[in-house]
Amino acid sequence: MCGIVGIVGREAVAQRLYDGLKRLEYRGYDSAGICTVQGGEFERRRAEGKLDNLARQLAAEALHGDVGIAHTRWATHGAPTVDNAHPHIAGPVALVHNGIIENFKPLRDELIADGRKFLSETDSEVVAHLVAREVENGKSPTEAVATVLPRLHGAFAIAFLFKDHPDQIIGARMGAPLTVGYGEGENYLGSDALALAPLTQKIAYLEEGDWAVVKRDSIQIYDRANKPVNREIVESGALATRIEKGNYRHFMQKEIFEQPIVVAQTLQSYVRPFEGKVALPDFDFDLSTVNRVTIVACGTSFYAGMVAKYWFEQFARVPVDIDVASEFRYRQPVLEPGGLALFISQSGETADTLAALRHAREEGQTIAVVVNVPTSSMAREADLLLPTHAGPEIGVASTKAFTCQLSVLAALAANLARAKGRLTEDEEREIVEHLREAPEAMNQALNHDEDIAGMAHLVAPARDVLYLGRGPDYPMALEGALKLKEISYIHAEGYAAGEMKHGPIALIDDLVPVIVLAPSGPLFEKTVSNMQEVRARGGKIILISDAKGLAEAGEGCVATIEMPEVHPLIAPLVYAVPVQLLAYHVAVAKGTDVDQPRNLAKSVTVE
Ligand code: M6R
Repeated sequence: MCGIVGIVGREAVAQRLYDGLKRLEYRGYDSAGICTVQGGEFERRRAEGKLDNLARQLAAEALHGDVGIAHTRWATHGAPTVDNAHPHIAGPVALVHNGIIENFKPLRDELIADGRKFLSETDSEVVAHLVAREVENGKSPTEAVATVLPRLHGAFAIAFLFKDHPDQIIGARMGAPLTVGYGEGENYLGSDALALAPLTQKIAYLEEGDWAVVKRDSIQIYDRANKPVNREIVESGALATRIEKGNYRHFMQKEIFEQPIVVAQTLQSYVRPFEGKVALPDFDFDLSTVNRVTIVACGTSFYAGMVAKYWFEQFARVPVDIDVASEFRYRQPVLEPGGLALFISQSGETADTLAALRHAREEGQTIAVVVNVPTSSMAREADLLLPTHAGPEIGVASTKAFTCQLSVLAALAANLARAKGRLTEDEEREIVEHLREAPEAMNQALNHDEDIAGMAHLVAPARDVLYLGRGPDYPMALEGALKLKEISYIHAEGYAAGEMKHGPIALIDDLVPVIVLAPSGPLFEKTVSNMQEVRARGGKIILISDAKGLAEAGEGCVATIEMPEVHPLIAPLVYAVPVQLLAYHVAVAKGTDVDQPRNLAKSVTVE
């Protein structure tokens, strides 16, 4: 993953590079570093851990120079130590790298045999040495980079700095995003438009295989065949202001509480309340021709897709295949030409999902994308762009992006159902009404915040936690478990309630809290039977249901959380709230780093 910024500036760059890294911290926070070139020498500061550590170093020992590169790291090759922190320097070359050089081992062996000394365990340092060797053998920076790039396998975005050519940075991309920015008398390079937003709104996205020579007064882009090319310069529209926590203790908490507003905001683009109709953005595609939908995503976005599978099949009677993106293209899925493939992502940059999207396009699929970052690669590569309007999501644990994804997917299910002739006008009007009720129902769920905080002590000491649900509450159980494990580090699993007896029931004893998501309805009795099976083995149940469900099955639970009674279509949006709050309060009780949990990054741009 990792984030990259580079500035060929008119004045000191260290502070601005640091600010750029702050905006890229969502891509990783294992270590960070900045390197400038000044008077024919590199100056470098690097620090382990969060960016604040680098800030302290910069305060203690200022970094000079008006040309520099910077990096925030998510460790792949080598532990998160200072030695492994970027920028890496090899003789006359410094670099920062995002991605993985898959053939680094033979390249490293070759360079060691050539007498070169390595100072880190990273794959990235190999590239610095390869380019340094070319420069030391008399090649210009551009010649050296052009020689080395074809030797690299894998996915990368790289920025190079040259000791003896202090007026330029060279950037290159293959499989990881990189953007160049145009300023007044200075130019930039960054992992995304957001990193560059305070510096410039005029940007160009490099395409696969592109590399660019960035100087103060020019940016020359080359394609993978080393031919000079022009890439369109666009207004990025990325927000230049810093997102603040306001009165909340954590971004995640703020984002959980923002949900009613952002869900309402998102739904505004997908329903026409006065006409009682669901609507999609304008695009030239006839949904009635869709006979199968392939959904692909990762993590929380994948669980949103799993919920959508229930809806698409139930309302539109259209069969759905769903895959986690990292499996999709490698299992060689059978895709009928002309099919619809739907990709779901908060960031729009997740490497696995992006690779799956490109694979689906090669297989002749129409590409629909539900995405939160409008400037992202996926947004740009979509045929049918279905934006969520959650606003920037900072907490690594996805919350508001998830419920906004669900809102869009519910509207898409209704659109598909209408296009397939499965929805009468009255039924559509009814769905629109229910969707409009969602923000208020989520508000009611949020009112249980204090009660849920009071339940944290039931879960915080546990080693294992199970989440159970049926129907669309099964993916919600998976999502609840993911939320808990990623921010509280407690082992948690989500199961289809009826599947528990086929194995996981062996885990149940009086130390295992079992969180059951069960709105009253046709599946409720079945889930209650599964609860009895848990109870009979001493399991401690926290039941999340509506008043009817709690009246029927609440007795004997260690705690209950009452949700408003809602239509099944919006239940997942509402039931997301208590599982998010529970995970949040358990993490706070355990004292973990809620917004930046260990080992994770907000945007996962490596495969
Ligand atoms: O940006 P994306 O939605 O593509 O990200 C997918 C997952 O990496 C993401 O949902 C991850 O699982 C979250 N940390 C979950 O809270």
